[in-house]
Amino acid sequence: MSDHVTTRNLHPVIGTEALGYSMTRHLDPQKIDAIKQLWLSHPVLIFRNQDISDSEHIEFARHFGEVELHPSISHRASNNPEIYRVSNVDETGQILPQQSNEWLYINLSWRWHTDSSFRQVPSKGSILHGIEVLPTGGDTLFANMYIAYEELDDKLKNKITGLTVTHSHDHILSLSNNLHRRQNRGEYTKLPPVAHPLVRIHPETGKPSLFLSPHTMTGIVQLPGQQGITLLDTLIAHATQDRFVYHHRWQPHDVVMWDNRCTMHAVTPFDNQTQRRIMHRTTIVGDEAPIAA
Ligand code: OGA
Ligand code: MN
Repeated sequence: MSDHVTTRNLHPVIGTEALGYSMTRHLDPQKIDAIKQLWLSHPVLIFRNQDISDSEHIEFARHFGEVELHPSISHRASNNPEIYRVSNVDETGQILPQQSNEWLYINLSWRWHTDSSFRQVPSKGSILHGIEVLPTGGDTLFANMYIAYEELDDKLKNKITGLTVTHSHDHILSLSNNLHRRQNRGEYTKLPPVAHPLVRIHPETGKPSLFLSPHTMTGIVQLPGQQGITLLDTLIAHATQDRFVYHHRWQPHDVVMWDNRCTMHAVTPFDNQTQRRIMHRTTIVGDEAPIAA
């Protein structure tokens, strides 16, 4: 195989298939470098037919940085804690009951979010392996937050530049009515709230993008409560228009690798009590806290 990784765009502004790469073969450093470069200009990369083990998945991820442990302890794979199990099925193969803490937590990925926005240093990127995928539903939507920012009018750009947003992992739990009410909501590593710029500069490309994560955002530091929430809602509605969003229909053993510094994502609903969806994710630790525009 040559060092060349060729591409095919699946949407005008986001979502690119990378062809000519196999994660099960020896990880040729030149090819890894080619992927790193490609990823900077194509923040959602899709690799088809990658029937990898969890160890191969983790080995691939480590080329891009250190791998995070997810704060939700019960969603880490028991043999490989670096794997976060995004699934409605437990490790013994049983469908998670509708009211289990484990399902209610995963169910929140149906909302738009950016992975690890609750950390002081949010993750650089995520790599998701589709192991059992569905004939309908359970697609993943990805929004290009560079373009969403670029397409704001100048007045709004000026208004939001310099604003700071508070993010909290506890907010994720509060979004689920059922989890919210419980004394025991599952076991999570403790994470204090953090503040991040609303417009961030990508540390490698130098380009500005909107930094939204509706999962974790509790308000804007410089604006009174409701005013901040209303502004965030306007920006979320803007950023999730079809023209900025790629809709990924999973095939078995697709691996999708996205840059959390300039995208956001959400899962489309599926029947989680009769269908099985098993996805394994690694998450790459960020290099630094988000840089304000
Ligand atoms: C994730 C997530 C997407 C999916 O892994 O971060 O939100 O398609 N899941 O399950
Ligand atoms: Mn996610």
